Amino acid sequence: MASASGCKVQRTFRGLQASRPAVARPSSRPGALCITAAVVEPGSTVLVAGATGGVGQLLTAKLLERGYKVRALSRSADKVRQQFGDAPGLSAAIADLRDPASLPAVLEGVDAVCCCTGTTAFPSKRWDGGNNPEQTDFVSVRNLVAACPKSLKRFTLTTSAGVERSSQFPFFILNAFGVLKYKRMGEQELERSGLPYVILRPSRLTDGPYTSYDVNTLLKATSGSRQDVQLSLKDELVGEASRIAVAEAIVQSLLLDFAEGHKYAIGSTQGEGPGQDPAKWAALFHGVRAPAGVA
Ligand SMILES: NC(=O)c1ccc[n+]([C@@H]2O[C@H](COP(=O)([O-])OP(=O)(O)OC[C@H]3O[C@@H](n4cnc5c(N)ncnc54)[C@H](OP(=O)(O)O)[C@@H]3O)[C@@H](O)[C@H]2O)c1
Repeated sequence: MASASGCKVQRTFRGLQASRPAVARPSSRPGALCITAAVVEPGSTVLVAGATGGVGQLLTAKLLERGYKVRALSRSADKVRQQFGDAPGLSAAIADLRDPASLPAVLEGVDAVCCCTGTTAFPSKRWDGGNNPEQTDFVSVRNLVAACPKSLKRFTLTTSAGVERSSQFPFFILNAFGVLKYKRMGEQELERSGLPYVILRPSRLTDGPYTSYDVNTLLKATSGSRQDVQLSLKDELVGEASRIAVAEAIVQSLLLDFAEGHKYAIGSTQGEGPGQDPAKWAALFHGVRAPAGVA
């Protein structure tokens, strides 16, 4: 488990000026990071599936702010318009992930896909039309993965804490209708696909969804005194995760080549945290996978 604060590798970045986002990767020198180029650079086109949802709305706003072009995937053109208006860099991608035929058109030319779709764990209005966990967390993810171009630079999937603990308390309660089982099956589709992936598994989500419908207001959202971030390569975290931190982690992981092929549990705790600093996030992601004894 790693916390953002106090990591020695942050020092590596002091005074660094780069014309494009500098990112860090492990070096053969213990405790050092090499500077390299971003995996998915600003200016690239990112499809955000679930862009109108709690994590997705923050992610969309953050990506636009950092200079990415965002294709906001939703089943509703009205929802995209209401939430983001005519924000520069944004286009709507209207599709239902359960319908594979609707996907090739929205995926054409995308550099990266970030999927943060979901539904309720228990029966609700949101299951209308059969949009239940099996369809949303498994079938839809399988369809999206299968439709991605092989040239894709990154597929980031947001699932949940507990996907590997679905028979344990308290997760077996949440899993009564299979949400964790189907999320894990969605992960496995991505793992098997050969696409370059990162999976984030947040704890119970806080902060949002927001109903203030514009990008600038979304960017002002804050998680107060709980801005520190925990990552773990094991499905072991308990507690909560701020949607703001999860969205920021997705944006930052687009820059990091060494995050590829990993599943990160993510949680929020009391403290200052990495904010939007790429060096601190690189150190955080690097620290979580550093072998014991390496700073
Ligand atoms: N709530 C928690 O405490 C918690 C904890 C851990 C993990 N998670 C997971 O974290 C992720 C983000 O959660 P959130 O609460 O921020 O999201 P959310 O507000 O529930 O948003 C989910 C989005 O999924 C989209 N969606 C649903 N079915 C779809 C379909 N068939 N085709 C296309 N899009 C579809 C919806 O978009 P449209 O309606 O616009 O189509 C919606 O905006 C989800 O996977 C969630 O399960 C949640």
